[in-house]
Amino acid sequence: MATQTTAAPNGVVQWFEERVRATALFNALLHVPIPAEAKTYYLGGITLFLFMVQVATGTLLSLYYKPTPEAAYDSVKYITSIVEFGWLIRSIHHWAANGMIIFLLLHVIRIFVQGVYKYPRELIWIFGALLFAVTIGFGFTGYLLPWDQKAFWATTVGTEIAAAVPFIGESLLQLLRGGADVTDATLSRFFGMHVLVLPISLALLLAAHLTVVHQLGIANPKRPSLRPGQLPTPGIVERWKPFFPHYVLDEVIAWAILLALLVVAASVYPAGLEDKADALVTPPHVKPEWYFLAVYQLLKVVPAIGPLTARDVGILIPMLAMVVLVMLPFLDKNPEVAKRKRPVALIIAAIVLIGMGILTWYGGQIPAVAVAAS
Ligand code: HEM
Repeated sequence: MATQTTAAPNGVVQWFEERVRATALFNALLHVPIPAEAKTYYLGGITLFLFMVQVATGTLLSLYYKPTPEAAYDSVKYITSIVEFGWLIRSIHHWAANGMIIFLLLHVIRIFVQGVYKYPRELIWIFGALLFAVTIGFGFTGYLLPWDQKAFWATTVGTEIAAAVPFIGESLLQLLRGGADVTDATLSRFFGMHVLVLPISLALLLAAHLTVVHQLGIANPKRPSLRPGQLPTPGIVERWKPFFPHYVLDEVIAWAILLALLVVAASVYPAGLEDKADALVTPPHVKPEWYFLAVYQLLKVVPAIGPLTARDVGILIPMLAMVVLVMLPFLDKNPEVAKRKRPVALIIAAIVLIGMGILTWYGGQIPAVAVAAS
């Protein structure tokens, strides 16, 4: 009589499936509804990739970096000149930081132009706006870490901008600097923020952002999402694009191209290092990073309004802009997503963008000086 045998194990996948039961979970994770009309230009995914590059290169840098005013500068010099490929890792970190901000801006512009922040995606937008603030925080705190003249004086200027916040400005300045001036206390705080507080915040916000994107799927830029009780327009048949492997593969190709570009940029224009920070020697040109230039320049050009000083006005405008950014899905009550049905929103956004562009350009031209708490 033939004996009954159990089916032979079907390789490694079967082995894990029996022990983890993860197939259903993976299938659910790899299913994101993507309408055929949706065009994301992979901008969110590229931003995500650049964040991963930052985590990888930042972890490698932290193996050698020493966060004290006595040792920071020399440790960065050591990374660039002695550690094997240290210069490349540091320069990729520098370029990916700039790239992350550029692609983040492009991601926000695409979301805005397509009007896909509206119902039911308000929460995705709010988590995104907070991600934006955290990303800017990375740039601000990371800038000080090399402890060279540029880092020291740009942070002096940058924290002075914080001091311009009405009512709480002085306390904010003390909180950021850990005292009246930029010292070892500032470096410890910025390092702690840069390698612990901000990465954890970004990871949590990103998890929330992407979970909701996964649950709702990508929006259709041609038609607003149906509200409860609303019926689909007769004759319109929704067509979908497969997320896996098609969309994922496109993303991975974009990431590979970007990684190659990062290596080229890092090799051709490696991250620089000026003289060691000296609190007694003010360099002739102190300028913040390019993405702070608009705010920095705004502080210099706005007039006083009524009881508000020019400095109050200059700092209140970006603060108000941040509130508007976070609350946008609730302020913009027009349910339409088609561009021709949202002329006002698009014109306002174009004016804001052009204004910021001009301020940034202008701020980059003029030799800057510290905006001492005047
Ligand atoms: C670290 C920052 C961010 C990362 C890594 C990120 C990542 C992503 C990814 C991967 C998607 C899926 C579709 C796509 O690639 O465009 C997405 C969608 C979305 N993001 Fe972001 N995002 C970030 C910041 C932001 C910001 C600052 C906003 C707006 C203020 C925002 C708003 C949205 C919205 C509304 C969607 C849904 C779009 C749709 O359904 O078509 N995100 N994000």
